[in-house]
Amino acid sequence: MSIRKNGDCWKLGILFSETGATAVIEKSQKNGALLAIEEINSKGGVAGLPIMPVSYDPGSIPSEYGRLAEKLISEDGVSLLIGCYMSSARKEVLPVIERRNALFFYPTLYEGFEYSPNVIYGGACPNQNSVPLASYLLENYGTRFYFVGSDYIYPRESNRVMRNILRQGGGEVIGERYLPVTAVKEDFVSILEDIAETKPDVIFSTVVGEGTINFYRAYYEAGHDARKVPIASLTTNEAEISRIGAKAAVGHITAAPYFRTINTPKSRRFLQSYARMFGSDEMVTSCCESAYFQVHMLAEALEREQSLDIERLREQLLGSTWDAPQGKIKIDPDNNHTYLHSRIAKVDDNGDFIVEREVRRPIKPDPYLVTPDLNDHRFRLREASKPVRAS
Ligand code: ACM
Repeated sequence: MSIRKNGDCWKLGILFSETGATAVIEKSQKNGALLAIEEINSKGGVAGLPIMPVSYDPGSIPSEYGRLAEKLISEDGVSLLIGCYMSSARKEVLPVIERRNALFFYPTLYEGFEYSPNVIYGGACPNQNSVPLASYLLENYGTRFYFVGSDYIYPRESNRVMRNILRQGGGEVIGERYLPVTAVKEDFVSILEDIAETKPDVIFSTVVGEGTINFYRAYYEAGHDARKVPIASLTTNEAEISRIGAKAAVGHITAAPYFRTINTPKSRRFLQSYARMFGSDEMVTSCCESAYFQVHMLAEALEREQSLDIERLREQLLGSTWDAPQGKIKIDPDNNHTYLHSRIAKVDDNGDFIVEREVRRPIKPDPYLVTPDLNDHRFRLREASKPVRAS
């Protein structure tokens, strides 16, 4: 495919939902991608041509992501795409991009156990978030876990992995319940009653999107104290905490590569740039940061290759590094996933995530969890350096 295929620009297909259950997080991902495009274009684009976003709203309906990926490729002439939050959506896009030999950037943590030569994975897989989180929770809260999840592939698979990791450290799962992605507050009542009865030390939540807001609020309203028994998660993020409210969110825990409160020059510049474009940095999340760095890394690869040849672009991307807001990262040439930082943060009284622990250096992705060892030195956590609140 030649550079002329897109005319006088580089088209980038964007598939993030503006409506439906996961719109809150996906809007922040879309903003991350648009911010990167704006930064690249304002500096003259790639090889003198701008990146042009071509965007559709799949409405948080998994099959729509597949249909719209096909439309982007066959009708809009797009061969580079970024998008998806839920793994169920990614699984719909996968056969389309493989059949069409397009290149798809996925900026979301997920359950692992997948590899496609047509995907560049920018979010954490279990060895980069579940293992450090399990180690932190076992050390600080106890051994009795209760799992609550949305009912689709990521929560079920992620819980399977988490159960194995916890067992390694002497933990046990005393309850495991699933609800539809569209669950409302009332749907959580019987789960909360079971939690009150069984008295776990910690809740591990794989509830996503609007369900997260409903679950955390219901937990607070049922009288549970998150400072004593927190809900720990890999997905609950700044955009959702801002909807939950500080009072109901304080004490809860999330593991992610990036939080808005980390105090690095690159992160401060990212937040300023985001706030200039969107009015406030309140909705910046780890998945937003991932969309942001993936578009920048793609642009640099395009600049070096100056062609839409997918095989050659992939060669440029694999092994490439970038100084992201979270710190230095690298796309692993072994598996198309990304070396990422790992941090554990707790929500404070103001509703900000304050980083409590972090690993020393980015963790090599191990999507098939070949070495799920709680004692591996690479996952060892240290006190976080000077946690600060976002200004
Ligand atoms: C997810 O479904 N990968 C959060």
